[in-house]
Amino acid sequence: MMSKKVKKAVIPAAGLGTRMLPATKAMPKEMFPIVDKPAIQYIVEEAVNSGIEDILIILSRGKTLIEDHFDRHPELEGRLLASHKEKMYEDVLRISELANITYVRQKEIKGLGNAVYYAKTFAGDEPFAVLYGDDVIIGDDPACGQLCRAYEETGLGVVGIKEVSLEAIQKYSSMKTAPLKDNWYHISDMIEKPKPEEVFSLYSILGRCVLPPEIFTILEHTKPGAGGEIQLTDAMKELATTKGMVGVDFTGKRYDMGNKLGVMEAIVENGLKHPEIGEDFRAYLKALSTTL
Ligand code: UTP
Repeated sequence: MMSKKVKKAVIPAAGLGTRMLPATKAMPKEMFPIVDKPAIQYIVEEAVNSGIEDILIILSRGKTLIEDHFDRHPELEGRLLASHKEKMYEDVLRISELANITYVRQKEIKGLGNAVYYAKTFAGDEPFAVLYGDDVIIGDDPACGQLCRAYEETGLGVVGIKEVSLEAIQKYSSMKTAPLKDNWYHISDMIEKPKPEEVFSLYSILGRCVLPPEIFTILEHTKPGAGGEIQLTDAMKELATTKGMVGVDFTGKRYDMGNKLGVMEAIVENGLKHPEIGEDFRAYLKALSTTL
């Protein structure tokens, strides 16, 4: 039996972004541009291209720029029309029509698990996708949609996973995996920020999951974990060890917009592919590389 279609998504974007200070003192990292488009717009577009209709963005103090970005801007639209910049006008207008977006504020920044709990009323009794607001994934088949298909086929919670280095996994999470089919794995346990001796595998959750509404009952009693934060991984561990979860080793390139190297990789790689400046940027990089 096919499970319910996933039509809702939550984008947590309330974090303090301390790894990107001072840029994030007043500017949300979710608004960092990859050339000319903010990270969170890539994420909303990925959700929409995955069949998502309703999106809840979790914000906090100082993150109102995100709401402005997805709102209408009549003065700018009028100016673009008057100066016959029709293409730019349509691009700007389209941002406000991408999806049905609502917002809620996380009152204290107590961790991703606490942020997701704010989606309880929004989700109701439906499954929902979570797209981390600083993880951009670029690929032909939207990563969120790959996870939604796994949920719809199995009815189990799904996490997007990728193999990382032993050094990196200690900063992320580690999954206990068994192969299911193709790039799908059964997940029977997981741990957040493992010590080397606690690592199950080098598969880590990176940026995406699809959760059943039962997660809210679990989050009600999830205690603060690594770093004193309420970790979503600790709540998902309970799902994994009781019902089991599915891990999808998704296709697409993931960029971590929450750390400096990730931001630079995103800008350089996508700058090279950019229709307007790609060619010039390639020539510039080639010339620069001879001096390195
Ligand atoms: P991160 O842990 O990468 O974000 O959370 P952070 O806490 O802002 O990062 P640093 O360590 O201080 O640099 C992943 C996503 O979850 C959101 C963040 O905004 C980010 O998009 N988040 C995190 C919340 O919405 N609330 C939280 O309490 C924590």
